[in-house]
Amino acid sequence: MRGLSALVKPINACQKWIVPAGITHFSTKAQPKQWPRKIISGIQPTGVLHIGNYFGAVQRWVQMQESGENVIIFLADLHSMTMPYEPAQLRENIYELTATLLACGIDTKKTPIFLQSTIPQHAELCWILSCLCTMLRLSHLPQFKEKSAEVKDIYTGLFMYPVLQAADILMHKATHVPCGEDQLQQLQLAAHLAKVFNTKFGETFPIIEPMIGQDASGRIRSLRDPSKKQSKSDPSDQSRIIMRDSPAAIRKKIKRAITDFTSEVTYDPENRPGVSNLVGIHALVKNVSPQEICDQSKELDTGKYKLVLAEDLVSLLDPIRLKIEDYLKNRDYLDSVLKEGRDVAAQTAEATMKEVKSRIGVNILQNCR
Ligand code: TRP
Repeated sequence: MRGLSALVKPINACQKWIVPAGITHFSTKAQPKQWPRKIISGIQPTGVLHIGNYFGAVQRWVQMQESGENVIIFLADLHSMTMPYEPAQLRENIYELTATLLACGIDTKKTPIFLQSTIPQHAELCWILSCLCTMLRLSHLPQFKEKSAEVKDIYTGLFMYPVLQAADILMHKATHVPCGEDQLQQLQLAAHLAKVFNTKFGETFPIIEPMIGQDASGRIRSLRDPSKKQSKSDPSDQSRIIMRDSPAAIRKKIKRAITDFTSEVTYDPENRPGVSNLVGIHALVKNVSPQEICDQSKELDTGKYKLVLAEDLVSLLDPIRLKIEDYLKNRDYLDSVLKEGRDVAAQTAEATMKEVKSRIGVNILQNCR
């Protein structure tokens, strides 16, 4: 490369300089770099949040925020278009999710929240990364296999889903991504694409580290069928406790939750998945171990135990539900939160894309107004 850089003058006025193809303003020599720790996480605005999302994701983000971590969160609305959806519903879900994150304790002065589609560079970087990613690699990802089995027509967006996810992460130069085990392969793809990009064009992106949750939150099961994970997309709304459930709804769902014919309260996920699921949830609600819950419930049969669990859930969730409802009455405020988040994210996105375009050889007109 020596000597060539002398040929390439910074382009201040756009007319005079033509940059020879393949030459960038950055050295392409790999230099190991220390990246500042930055955590990013995204969540799709599909359906209402349930307690599995709360304990598995949102509560962890709040804890990270409180421990002073540099965290940024976004609503992955572009991702939620990869499955059939209604525009009016998507719009409602965006507000609902924003309100829920605030009600759960995300403080946007510390942790910005932005809406993915308000940063057009995410889709742009997705395209660039797609040119470094083989179809074979994408077709092997388990989530693609699962989701494509659910639909008649498989749209390209569903196939590209993990590439857009990689773009989300790389755009913000995140070093860590909290996630559930089901996201691991997608994060490995993001790390792979960062490596491919860095090797080809020079070190640009950190290689992310997934932060898999160590607690039981990823294992919250359906209340109707403990062999399944509690899920936003389960057709039975009795299968999950959502953040906006009224006290009456919570009591009813817990009362009807599937258990077995043994009346003691024990924790044995393998042999007694139903009651163990309730104990597992309870342990998260009270922030103690499942064994402690069992010790405290020695005198109770499962029927009575369910009443105790229901009340503890109501005490946790009711204040959050009331706050969500308050926030939802104030759409202007929710807009202002997403606007502030967009302004923060836009700065990073502009800087990253400027660098990326220089590195890949398309930094033409970049300094022209
Ligand atoms: N795929 C994630 C989910 O369904 C959402 C997501 C999109 C995401 N982009 C991301 C998560 C980037 C972490 C980082 O939950």
